[in-house]
Amino acid sequence: MEEKAASGSPAPRDIPYKPFFNRTLDRIWGAVDDRLGTQKWPLRPQPDFSFKPGYWTGAFVANAFIFQVITGILLLFYYVPSTQLATAGGVYPVGAPLAWGSTYYIIHTVPLGAFLISSHLYGAYATIFLAFLHFFRGFYTGVYKKPREFTWMIGTLLLLSMLGMGFTGYLLPYTALSVGATDVGIVLTLSVPGGTTLAPLILGNATDQALLSRMFALHVVGIPLALGGLLFAHILLFETHGVAPKASSDPQAKRVLTEEDDKKMGKFFPKVFLYMTKWAFFYAGGLFLIVAIWPWQLPVFYGSAAAGGSSPEPDWYFLWLYKIMDFQGVTPIIAVVTVTLLMLFVLFLPWIDRRPLTSTKTHPRDRPVLVIVGNFLAGMFLVLTVWGGVMPGVVIPTSMYAEYLGSILLVNLVVVFAFYVRYRASYSRRLLKRQGRADAATK
Ligand code: HEM
Repeated sequence: MEEKAASGSPAPRDIPYKPFFNRTLDRIWGAVDDRLGTQKWPLRPQPDFSFKPGYWTGAFVANAFIFQVITGILLLFYYVPSTQLATAGGVYPVGAPLAWGSTYYIIHTVPLGAFLISSHLYGAYATIFLAFLHFFRGFYTGVYKKPREFTWMIGTLLLLSMLGMGFTGYLLPYTALSVGATDVGIVLTLSVPGGTTLAPLILGNATDQALLSRMFALHVVGIPLALGGLLFAHILLFETHGVAPKASSDPQAKRVLTEEDDKKMGKFFPKVFLYMTKWAFFYAGGLFLIVAIWPWQLPVFYGSAAAGGSSPEPDWYFLWLYKIMDFQGVTPIIAVVTVTLLMLFVLFLPWIDRRPLTSTKTHPRDRPVLVIVGNFLAGMFLVLTVWGGVMPGVVIPTSMYAEYLGSILLVNLVVVFAFYVRYRASYSRRLLKRQGRADAATK
């Protein structure tokens, strides 16, 4: 037997057994690959350690975005971007704006229309949620450090574009809620320094139709084009640098793959591709389940008598911003300046997190200042979102919001520093022990 192995032909029991199903798949894949030549495509193989969901949060966002493009194109077949009121004899409810009427038509008449529009809407929620998840994962594990600074900056622009997609898409069904919320957003946008000069561009001739046409154009052409370009650049940079290795407590650790990692790689085709496809199916399955259980209900149309005095309410991802506007003493300009500073902080984080105050290490346990900032941002986002959902439009006195936000900051400070001090102490002990063992071994 040994002789046989030495002569080069493997012994029968050394040939790995593959079930019929796998062998057939291999054969089909081989035939496809012969024709496409995928092995020559410039797609990076990925290190074995990265086949865990945490390393692929960006791919989940990209996958959810592709799903949005597909459902969005299907919705375009039926949606009418017009504020004109429907008249008798057509297929839309009489007296309602065509934008709302065509949405109603999609839900009630188009085969699987309710399913389609609900998946697009909930898919938008999921895409934005996943984008925030991707952002916070990167924030806590310091993936923005050298050499990924530009990847991070382009990512920030992607996040803003995604929010822009949400904002412009919200107006399209032309409900009483969405028109009111869009008006609040426009007031905010126009209050940026020099914002009034933007007014003719955003408002056109100041008719309802002019605004709807602009939001529609931005939603289906302008922002998707920008998103496509940014996404291409983002992924190109990812392909250049590869996935960031695990966060580390070693200040010398470079965020590049080691030779050891290079030896254990999974090729893009079929390993990475199939890994992504698995998660894509999981995503679609989860989304379809939610849609089947809670199909979206279309609110009343803008201008309808039933709308009454309903207060404008944005989608959940903008509730935090709308709640800030309810704070006593916070004018649109203060809100805009605060948000702009926050965006600039995120955009330039790779250069801000370089000072000795923070750390060259990337593991969250070594970066208490950054963890406090991250927790504060996440905590504020959560509290303001819930607050905005439960008490929309209710003015919050200064003493109350100072107390709430101050408590979040204080608890966060105490807890993170307590963990940090505890960790430093145990880490020093472990280092001493290791040093002692090394000394004993050399004696
Ligand atoms: C909103 C749309 C976004 C999409 C579609 C997207 C897509 C991706 C993809 C596909 C990757 C490859 C690795 C992975 O799957 O995680 C990636 C990596 C990365 N993204 Fe994003 N991203 C987005 C937003 C952001 C944001 C908001 C940031 C941060 C501000 C960001 C920063 C990064 C960084 C630093 C990497 C490299 C991470 C690593 O190497 O582990 N991205 N992104």
